[in-house]
Amino acid sequence: MNIDYDQKIPNNVALSSDKTLQRALEHWQPEFLNWWGEMGPEGSHRFDIYLRTATSVDQAGWAQFGYVKMPDYRWGIFLNPAERDRKIAFGAHRGEPVWQEVPGEYRSNLRRIIVTQGDTEPASVEQQRHLGLTCPSMYDLRNLFQVNVEEGRHLWAMVYLLHRYFGRDGREEAEALLGRRSGDADNPRILGAFNERTPDWLSFFMFTFFTDRDGKFQLSALTESAFDPLARTTRFMLTEEGHHMFVGRNGIRRIIDRTAEVMIREQTDDPARLRALGVIDLPTIQRYLNFHSSVTVDLFGSDLSSNAATFYTTGLKGRFREERIADDHVLKEATYPVLEVGGGELLGRDAPALNALNERLRDDFVADSISGVDAWNSLLKKRGIEFHLTVPHKAFNRQIGPLAGAKISPQGRIVSAAEWDSKVREWLPSPEDRDFVQSLMGRVVEPGRFANWISPPSAGINGQPVECEYVRFN
Ligand SMILES: [Fe+2]
Ligand SMILES: [Fe+2]
Repeated sequence: MNIDYDQKIPNNVALSSDKTLQRALEHWQPEFLNWWGEMGPEGSHRFDIYLRTATSVDQAGWAQFGYVKMPDYRWGIFLNPAERDRKIAFGAHRGEPVWQEVPGEYRSNLRRIIVTQGDTEPASVEQQRHLGLTCPSMYDLRNLFQVNVEEGRHLWAMVYLLHRYFGRDGREEAEALLGRRSGDADNPRILGAFNERTPDWLSFFMFTFFTDRDGKFQLSALTESAFDPLARTTRFMLTEEGHHMFVGRNGIRRIIDRTAEVMIREQTDDPARLRALGVIDLPTIQRYLNFHSSVTVDLFGSDLSSNAATFYTTGLKGRFREERIADDHVLKEATYPVLEVGGGELLGRDAPALNALNERLRDDFVADSISGVDAWNSLLKKRGIEFHLTVPHKAFNRQIGPLAGAKISPQGRIVSAAEWDSKVREWLPSPEDRDFVQSLMGRVVEPGRFANWISPPSAGINGQPVECEYVRFN
């Protein structure tokens, strides 16, 4: 499909031929821009930023680079091309053609799924809005802004579905998405992790490593949906999610690289000494990792969930890579192991697989996180440093599900309240850790310069040099 570049809202959904929808979105657009002005990246509205913009979903169009002011970014609506004769891959409707409209009986569940996904997008922009003031380099500042505009586009993607397929309730939900605020006591964002603060760049990189990876798994499950417009829009969103995880993976890698360099030069692994030298000691990185991993693991929801079973059976939400799994894709008889606390230890037991779909997606997520963290460990090993970063056990520090409230170590051992209290400072960031990390945050914006606590990247953006002027402040 062609894109009309003169349109206010770039899209490949033939918006101009649906006047009602076009009017509805043109009405929503100024409200979105007001929200962006109020809650988007602080003090950034006049900057020209070297951004990647999607103008279409094909190879040539999805990554157009150029200088853009963020309020002028071409937020648009892009669905991956329809797959011909696509059939439903799982659940009670398996083998039937996918739906181009919302079946009445599934309307409220589908709306709920779309709203819950949509709510995370503006939430993360709100969480990250102050970070530009303390960026470790111009390169990183540009990456932050790239993530922010793409989360804005993801909101557009969900709002399109609400407006196009859910009538009046959809319009109301689209407005409510601009009304909630991350961390607000009265009108918070829907999910816990999206109400946490992202106060510093170590947190930001951990967030993009873990929490955007939750995005990858949730979106992947939705790409399987029988509701084809949802499947197609989430498929396109995944290409952008890949970039967000890259920002996290590489950001942490560069922090570790810099710390390792100083450890070797000074022949020390003493955290206090390293802190005095202005780099982040590895145990602190591990504690931040533990925090962000555990908060994100909770996003998958309760390990046994009748909603998850309903969403699957009715074809709304599949499993990660559903079509590659060799089973009946109905799961009526199947079981899946879940954890519970019994007799002072964590015990596995088989639960109905249909009810355990959150747990399964969580396990897929954890496995993916572990392979990402292993890449950091290879770097440490190559540097000759004996320190192994680990993804904590999925039962650690849980606030949701039957493990919530249980005291469980990062290794997955049940501990007493007294042991938890005596060790929690080794396991989770303490106020002093957070103060220390905060104390490193300055604002480094000269092209090619980097804060002391992070190494430069090995390459710039889109073939540009690392010292490119990625942001013009005007
Ligand atoms: Fe997103
Ligand atoms: Fe993301």
